[in-house]
Amino acid sequence: MKNTEIKISPSLLSGDFADMASALKSVEEWGGDMAHCDVMDGVFVKNLTFGMPMIKALRKRTKLPLDVHLMIIEPERYIDEFIQSGADIITFHPEASKDPLGTLQNIRRQGVKSGIVFNPDIEVNRFKHLFPHCDIVLVMGVYAGRGGQKFIEDTLEKIAEVKGILDEMKLDIPIEIDGGIKEENVDKVIQKGASIIVAGSSVFASPNPKETIKRLRGLTP
Ligand code: DX5
Ligand code: ZN
Repeated sequence: MKNTEIKISPSLLSGDFADMASALKSVEEWGGDMAHCDVMDGVFVKNLTFGMPMIKALRKRTKLPLDVHLMIIEPERYIDEFIQSGADIITFHPEASKDPLGTLQNIRRQGVKSGIVFNPDIEVNRFKHLFPHCDIVLVMGVYAGRGGQKFIEDTLEKIAEVKGILDEMKLDIPIEIDGGIKEENVDKVIQKGASIIVAGSSVFASPNPKETIKRLRGLTP
């Protein structure tokens, strides 16, 4: 299956936290289109990862777009600083925000791509009114919080549901899928409408990450 529109966003969460510069360089060498940065606060999700200083440091090392996925409560408190640090895309979980609309608008106003993220248990209908203010919609294939989890098959229908609503609203914006994506299931998510593919463990643990990224694009049969 050939689809040159597909973009791959390898997740640095699966990289070596003592050597993020190398992880980022690898993502470039392997042919990633952007670098997915998972920010976790230990409150919205159990894990803690990194914050703005890491984004600022990564920014100095790459021209690749930094795709920042915020798994934090009240993301509105940190948006300006993430933007100043060099984020190109900022997605957040709307149920974690006191003002998701204002947050999306603030991101966009500053020329950064904005988006909301759906965990598997969050109804699309609850937040679809925000779609006109999004540049991306991210659908989780697992519960946000850690890498290496198994893809939840039911989330395929969520991708289709989001795609249907975006089409109805005549919004031509990409759907990003995050969690549990590997060579074996990527075609299914692409068929349902996803076009930005986040992949952490399947890329970083691959014996040939370059080849894996090629396959995740659907370029290799
Ligand atoms: C999970 C993160 C994902 C994670 C994906 O909460 O949002 O971005 O890095 O990792 P894999 O691809 O291993 O499921
Ligand atoms: Zn993520």
